[in-house]
Amino acid sequence: MTERRILVTSALPYANGHIHIGHLVEYIQTDIWVRFQKLRGHQVVYVCADDTHGTAIMLRARREGRPEEELIADMQQAHERDFSAFDIEFDNYGSTHSEENRNICTRMWGAIRQAGLVREKTVEQLFDPEAGTFLADRFVRGTCPRCGAEDQPGDNCSVCGAAYTPADLIDPVSTLSGSTPEIRSAPHLFIELEQLHEFLEDWTQNGRHLQPEVARYLKGHFLNAPLRDWDVSRPAPYFGFEIPDSPGNYWYVWFDAPIGYMASTQQWCQRRGERFDDWWGPDSDAEIHHFIGKDITYFHTLFWPGMLKTAGCNLPEKVHIHGFLTVGGEKMSKSRGTFILASTWLRHLPAQTLRYYYATRLGSGLDDIDLNPQELVSRVNSDLVNKIVNLASRTARFVQSQCLSEQYPQNDDGLFEHAARQADRLAELYEQGSFAAAIREIVLLADRANRFVEERAPWELKRDPKRQDELRDVCTVALNLFRQLVVYLKPVLPKLAAQTEELLNTPIRHWDDVRTPLSGTPVSPFQHLMKRIDEKQVEAMIEDSKDQDAPEQPQESSPDFHPADSWKDPGDALAAEPIADECTIDDFMKVDLRVARIIEARHVDGADRLLQLTLSLGGGETRNVFAGIKAAYDPESLVGRQVVCVANLKPRKMKFGVSEGMVCASGPGGKDVFLISPDSGAQPGQRVH
Ligand code: 2FM
Ligand code: ZN
Repeated sequence: MTERRILVTSALPYANGHIHIGHLVEYIQTDIWVRFQKLRGHQVVYVCADDTHGTAIMLRARREGRPEEELIADMQQAHERDFSAFDIEFDNYGSTHSEENRNICTRMWGAIRQAGLVREKTVEQLFDPEAGTFLADRFVRGTCPRCGAEDQPGDNCSVCGAAYTPADLIDPVSTLSGSTPEIRSAPHLFIELEQLHEFLEDWTQNGRHLQPEVARYLKGHFLNAPLRDWDVSRPAPYFGFEIPDSPGNYWYVWFDAPIGYMASTQQWCQRRGERFDDWWGPDSDAEIHHFIGKDITYFHTLFWPGMLKTAGCNLPEKVHIHGFLTVGGEKMSKSRGTFILASTWLRHLPAQTLRYYYATRLGSGLDDIDLNPQELVSRVNSDLVNKIVNLASRTARFVQSQCLSEQYPQNDDGLFEHAARQADRLAELYEQGSFAAAIREIVLLADRANRFVEERAPWELKRDPKRQDELRDVCTVALNLFRQLVVYLKPVLPKLAAQTEELLNTPIRHWDDVRTPLSGTPVSPFQHLMKRIDEKQVEAMIEDSKDQDAPEQPQESSPDFHPADSWKDPGDALAAEPIADECTIDDFMKVDLRVARIIEARHVDGADRLLQLTLSLGGGETRNVFAGIKAAYDPESLVGRQVVCVANLKPRKMKFGVSEGMVCASGPGGKDVFLISPDSGAQPGQRVH
């Protein structure tokens, strides 16, 4: 296998808030992927940094009466401490407020100017005379100019959906000081993204860099029309870098944030004596992989490749986009105690439990992932502790302070060979980010290994002095099978891997270590590896998370990117399938639509289009449904997701079995099928009216 050179990033966390379990979905996901690639023997550099600029930091520093630099230094320390406690291991952790970043921003800016992409336009913006600052959209509220709804945000109306600029609001009020803002005009610098349309069309649609659903989203929402100019400057006062050729103006935080990926790489290069251009230069053979949440898709898939292209840099190989975290099926909430900070988690539960749980939920798609407290306890206790760790605890004691058999025993029922044969497939799953599927297969291997131990009953052999060699052989097999599982889990559970290395006095250096059994190696005295967890710990953590400070708002979103932009819906779908004949409410009520949760999803042998789904309607009531969604969804990404189903459809006998309902979806078919999901809060079994 040729060694790849891989540069990996996670989104840079804002310096105005602490790390919480929502952030950790991404950092844990990325860290697992990075550790996996390192274990495969590739050269991997994982960089990140704090995202430090913008109005929010400036105002907070003012509120706290100290310089921004001090505030961001404190926050960076807290972030790094949280990351390291969760075993998230960056090769470099920087800050966007660094000289490296300023210099690279200046170079990129020069290239963008030279390419003729920058244009100055006058922008009318609201200014708070009391706070002495221009107001980002979210700091203004007022009456909607379209429908008259009061107390609406500065960019779009939550009642009628109208998109506007804060200057259009009737009776605007600054949320900073409560004063009435003035309209002031100031020159802003814009990047004309439309000039890169052709390049972006190709880069996003060529199937190599983005998940298919992301490519479709970009095409349907943005690339079908001219791309809007991107406002990349802010007038003083602003905490950021002053634009060298435009005194009094600063780069907007979203301009210098992604460049922070490069600045952090540069710091790593300086430390290691490597060349920056070998990673980001136009001739680099390095693969750049960004991991981000779906909310910042636009920045990373349009602005960022556009900037890199213009500056002649290496382009991302892949942008891996994930969904949001829900807790118990609902958005994280301060009042419910589900807005859990990283540091709070650690006061109640070990970091490895969250790493393992997230791994059991993460697929390669964009679906939200749910942290279900009961599920957390059950995955950790029944799978990780009872099946995996238990393999070592029930056998290592019999051979501790002795050595494994000199020869790996022949009579292991082929289990070692079987587990070794899974190496390529499991590697493929990790590579694609299908961690949940990988974990399921690893747990199946653990089941087989446990059956072996039960059949050979080492505890009985122990009692018979004549059967001590046999005992050692059984334990040699069991501990080797355990070690294979730990190799496969090392990206997820680095601590467990380290403990296993100590127990068996052999480092795990490479994924291929699963192919060679250990024999004759000394076994250290057995130390407890991992404890079961209790629902009470989760309850206490939730209790502890109630009533802390409200979560920080996200820093800033581009004023160019109104959610309402996506509402210029084309009429193609309606034209393709005109609305059906009128029906009465009674006709409609005959169809019993229910919320259901997909609890199992699998491929059907011999069926090209179908997935077999088990739907739960709650209370143990289930439906077996064959759905023609195979081209659009990975089965693993569906498990846990809520859908709407027709619950009273007459069962239909199909070639592959009886289908007992239908799941509701839109779209023409094939890859373009879109399941309909209820909003969070809905419960399986609820009727859809
Ligand atoms: O959304 C956020 O939290 C941003 N701070 C992410 C920045 S990622 C990158 F572009 F810097
Ligand atoms: Zn309105």
